[in-house]
Amino acid sequence: MIGLFDPGLGGLSVARAVRALLPRHDLLYLADTAYCPYGPLAPELVRARALACATWLVKQGAGVVVVACNTATSAAIEILRARLSAPIVGMEPGLKPAVAATRTGRVAVLATSGTLGGERFQRLRERFAHGAEVVTVACPEMVQLVEDGELDGPRARAVVAACVEPLGARGVDTLVLGCTHFPPLRPLIAAAAPRATIIDTGPAVAAQTARVASAAGIGPGDGTMRCATTGDPALVAPALARVWGAPLPLEGIRDL
Ligand code: DGL
Repeated sequence: MIGLFDPGLGGLSVARAVRALLPRHDLLYLADTAYCPYGPLAPELVRARALACATWLVKQGAGVVVVACNTATSAAIEILRARLSAPIVGMEPGLKPAVAATRTGRVAVLATSGTLGGERFQRLRERFAHGAEVVTVACPEMVQLVEDGELDGPRARAVVAACVEPLGARGVDTLVLGCTHFPPLRPLIAAAAPRATIIDTGPAVAAQTARVASAAGIGPGDGTMRCATTGDPALVAPALARVWGAPLPLEGIRDL
């Protein structure tokens, strides 16, 4: 089984990319809703939560753990790799492909304040910006839209436009979705920046997951997809169904 976690429903965008590549593998998705969002939390707390989530997934039988969250990867990937025996797949904003794609030399990274303020992102910038101007935008309101299952409508369009529209005027032609909550809002982001190239690392993370799963000897199963939340399943289920596009089995877990 492949385990994935995120503070909430954002990592479903990664699960979807994994599902597209590995249609018959069994997936277990954990939403740490009780602590969502991770973006504004202190890195020590994100590390503790990531460790609790990844450990739970391994105890459930996950042979690979995907950190389906840029913020958790930024704060915790080293400690997860040091403490857990299962292979860990992490993710980071796609700055390198963005810099390769830009024609104006200006790219924007949309991510959480935790990711943008972290050392990993500073290193990524030093390695890959290559003279391009990197505009960073933290959009916590967009994270909340996805947690509410609000992927369209006037309020969602206004929130996304407020984050994205000003970037065009600044000459930005390439947008990096540096938070896994943003791919579900991609149609609204594209509408607010119609000429921009949009970079989503979900498919690359899925390809890496497929390689790691194969190396770990994890083969196809029945193609099941189970979900768990540290929040109230009755409250999470409707938004989860909207973000995934269909209802999914969801259990509540306590005391994690
Ligand atoms: N989905 C998460 C990410 O990729 C973060 C959202 C949050 O909890 O603030 O960074």
